[in-house]
Amino acid sequence: MARGRFITLEGGEGAGKSTQLQTVAACLREAGVPFITTREPGGTARAEAIRGLLLSADEAEPMAAETELLLMFAARAQHVRHRIEPALEAGTWVLCDRFTDATRAYQGGGRGMPLARIDALAAWVHGDCWPDLTVLLDLPVAEGLDRAAKRGAKDRIEQETLDFFERVRMAYLEQAGASPDRFRVVDASRSEAAVAASLREILRPFLQAARTHD
Ligand code: TMP
Repeated sequence: MARGRFITLEGGEGAGKSTQLQTVAACLREAGVPFITTREPGGTARAEAIRGLLLSADEAEPMAAETELLLMFAARAQHVRHRIEPALEAGTWVLCDRFTDATRAYQGGGRGMPLARIDALAAWVHGDCWPDLTVLLDLPVAEGLDRAAKRGAKDRIEQETLDFFERVRMAYLEQAGASPDRFRVVDASRSEAAVAASLREILRPFLQAARTHD
């Protein structure tokens, strides 16, 4: 049986990932592809519990950057072992809201953790299980934060500074530039409908190529 394909959506705060995940899901459904949707940090019961630790606001004890990085990978290990790999092996596609590219952008770009350390953790935790396709929803930081602010209370990471999110955006764009075969960058400052149309254009040849290879 052909292995499933692994698709991720990435982007800064307020980029519209959750909405556009539904667009990708609709494309896969229309194509008759079996798939699951999931997210990081999270995706299994234990990984969702780790997400709770990661996103709850700092009170008396701020979270160290090292703790944050290790918890991201702890959640990922659980998710890859118990959800992502079993699905891909069974021929089910995985559509995931964020993955290790987010760690390189947030903990690498945002927090300044060395990329070599992140890459070593990635190699340990998920080996060569990398997405086949990653869509980066890109938009100016201020616009994204404005949109995110309308959603209500901010989690621990959303409380970061504008500079932090500028570094996250730059790190994402650098990664996309360094891996053009895997990444597609979509201008997410446009209307929901225009972004959805771009996603459909990206998915069409990807689905065709998958059919040809299987
Ligand atoms: P979400 O807003 O997409 O649900 O993601 C939750 C937060 O976690 C978001 O602020 C980005 C952050 N994050 C990281 O900092 N590193 C990671 O590896 C992942 C997956 C998410």
